[in-house]
Amino acid sequence: MKLVITKDYDDLSKQAARLIADEVKQRPDTVLGLATGGTPVGMYRELIAIHQKEGVDFSQASSFNLDEYVGLSGQHPQSYRAYMDENLFDHINLPREKTNVPHGDAADLGAECKRYEQAIAAAGGIDIQVLGIGNNGHIGFNEPGSAKDTTTRVVQLTSSTIEANARYFDTIEEVPTQAISMGIRTILSAKKIVLLASGKAKAEAVQHMLEGEMTSDVPASLLQQHPDVTVIVDVEAAAAL
Ligand code: GLP
Repeated sequence: MKLVITKDYDDLSKQAARLIADEVKQRPDTVLGLATGGTPVGMYRELIAIHQKEGVDFSQASSFNLDEYVGLSGQHPQSYRAYMDENLFDHINLPREKTNVPHGDAADLGAECKRYEQAIAAAGGIDIQVLGIGNNGHIGFNEPGSAKDTTTRVVQLTSSTIEANARYFDTIEEVPTQAISMGIRTILSAKKIVLLASGKAKAEAVQHMLEGEMTSDVPASLLQQHPDVTVIVDVEAAAAL
């Protein structure tokens, strides 16, 4: 895995946005794999700025998000669909019909997971997948214990993830306890992966991901087997290396 340590969050956001923009410039029909959470917000802000300043064209690109909360429709303000619209899609020329986020309110969740996995395959697979990392080493919503061969499925969130994500909801009781998430195999099938981590709360997970043994107990460590991963971390997230 290639490691880039940046001086701060701003620099991390700029470097990550540059990687994505270069990919889209080189290959206009890029299939982007996108992530939510607090970490990529700065990268999306920079990507919008690059789009406006340099005219990077997203009209032929498409995107697949990693995950969505079960039970939330795309209209729910805390849904990952709403997050993506607000932080990126409303501001660039990526056609809305080519943006994909799992439907967390689908009546048949199993069928929705299958449909999502097939849609990724039909698009030719993901060219560049952006990832954050949970404090416990989760990627997407693949919590500790997620096997290497998992694909898009319904997952149960751990209490530490529910607590970490409660800051976006009025009360912790409102945080969904399940999500639809791409699996580890789905993520590892991407041609390139860019993982972002910022702040000292991520230092331990980052250390294990890069230097620890490959184990499902720390799902991000399974990325060690992928041939093209760039990890961009700020100095605080790199503190335990
Ligand atoms: C959520 C998301 C992950 C994200 C993680 C860390 O659980 N499903 O994709 O990486 O949170 O989020 P943050 O960047 O806010 O620390």
